Amino acid sequence: MTKKTIETKISIYKFDELDSSLQTLIIKAKEQVNKAYAPYSGFHVGAAIELENGEIFAASNQENSAYPSGLCAERVAMFFANAQYPEIPVRAIAIAAFTNGDFLAEPITPCGSCRQVLLETEMRFEKDIKILLYGTNHVFEIDNVKQMLPLCFEKSNLNT
Ligand code: THU
Repeated sequence: MTKKTIETKISIYKFDELDSSLQTLIIKAKEQVNKAYAPYSGFHVGAAIELENGEIFAASNQENSAYPSGLCAERVAMFFANAQYPEIPVRAIAIAAFTNGDFLAEPITPCGSCRQVLLETEMRFEKDIKILLYGTNHVFEIDNVKQMLPLCFEKSNLNT
């Protein structure tokens, strides 16, 4: 028997320490929380995606009275970006969450389904997607989606 340890590397910043382009992406994600449709959870999430051509797409979570029919901000943003620009890789995504009158002090991380969707885009273009997770105390930066989804299922597993 052998054992293996898988590490996830996270860089932790104060917002002011980040490059201005990354700050801009986070600000776009923060702006989106005002547009969330989250009457059931009261948990407003914004996501902003930057493409390799510099274009930014931002979106928010969209809930539904049939709860599972709703969609997280990350997937709304990523599907929208890929649908508009199917040929252009994604460079980065920023995520921010707001509830009970404030942004969260510590970052939230994308749910498992969103990680799988973000991973598909990373693999599709064979380009790392930088993840920026905003909290008022700290911003987490992760170099690529694979770091957040070790032991993932991906297209090479299909053997097609
Ligand atoms: N949500 C997101 O939009 N992104 C996340 O990373 C976590 C959760 C949404 C889904 C639902 O509308 C609400 O937040 C509560 O789970």
